[in-house]
Amino acid sequence: MSFTLIEPATPRLHRSELAVPGTRTELFDKAAASAADIVFLDLEDAVAPDDKPQARRNVVQALNELDWGSKTTMVRINGLDTPYMYRDVIDVVEACPRLDMLLIPKVGTAADVYAVDMLVTQIEQAHGRAKRLGFEVLIETALGMAHVEAIAQASRRLEAMSFGVADYAASTRARTTVIGGVHPDSVVLSDPDAQGRRERFWTDPWHAAQTRMLVACRAYGLRPVDGPFGDFSDPEGFLAAARRAAVLGYEGKWAIHPSQVAMANEVFTPSEAEVTKARRIVEAMARAAREGRGAVSLDGRLIDIASIRMAEALLAKADAIARG
Ligand code: COA
Ligand code: MG
Repeated sequence: MSFTLIEPATPRLHRSELAVPGTRTELFDKAAASAADIVFLDLEDAVAPDDKPQARRNVVQALNELDWGSKTTMVRINGLDTPYMYRDVIDVVEACPRLDMLLIPKVGTAADVYAVDMLVTQIEQAHGRAKRLGFEVLIETALGMAHVEAIAQASRRLEAMSFGVADYAASTRARTTVIGGVHPDSVVLSDPDAQGRRERFWTDPWHAAQTRMLVACRAYGLRPVDGPFGDFSDPEGFLAAARRAAVLGYEGKWAIHPSQVAMANEVFTPSEAEVTKARRIVEAMARAAREGRGAVSLDGRLIDIASIRMAEALLAKADAIARG
């Protein structure tokens, strides 16, 4: 281990993050009663410019009046380049003691996070706010990705980052108009076989970007979260995308429709089989340690001391989920 130790952010369940437009008040009750670990009420891109003031009022009322149970509540404010952001922060943070987190979109530099931190810190002090607000940032521009490591260290309030695939695609001029998922042009062809046949393999156009953000998050103790999958009538596509993210080390995924919540919770909860296997690894390694060995075989495969770390990370996650 390095001599530099990084403290992990405030732990929370973050398997599913349900997006709810701040104007669609009829959805608020359903979101509060849903199985989503985190609900974010949106003031940004799901709200038209003329509706921003009304959306703020709706969000304040919902946070103060609905029963959110043990859910993490979050509000997505507008970007720092808009005329809405300061009032989003002031109106919502001043009026909502129940609020847990702010989601800051299109963060481009560490200073963007610093600026919001400054504003929030003043409001907390002025109002004697009991609950310290956490931040999640959206990495969804080329500038944000270019600065992702500096952004990850920008504030003690930072807990998580989401990969915002749609704006990221727009910002990098990716040749697509779908939100998340794969693309028929993102393929590799095998060399022709003896009969001239070629196999066509789809590749994930977002893999490299997701990995870059994941490393910045895990290096600095933050939770990496995968963003939206827009085609909510394609559960198989959602599951595949969520599983690809989970295998990389992502903590959870957005749900832009309630049907995606249960799928995200399932994918980002270690299965019974994974937990059993992890326990067997820990036990086998404990036996190995008693026998003075650092590497042994389990079911015909090598396990060593790194296997304990992987197994323990998985068991810690399963425990956190069981505790709720
Ligand atoms: N949160 C809670 N409940 C929701 C919901 C949400 N985000 N979206 C839909 N529902 C409810 C509907 O009210 C409906 O409930 P009912 O069965 O009691 O009538 C049920 O889920 C099925 O909804 P459906 O009719 O399939 O969806 P819709 O056509 O009303 O809305 C969307 C589809 C995509 C527009 C809507 O889900 C939505 O606004 N999602 C969030 C989008 C967003 O915030 N984007 C910004 C981040 S990318
Ligand atoms: Mg966006």
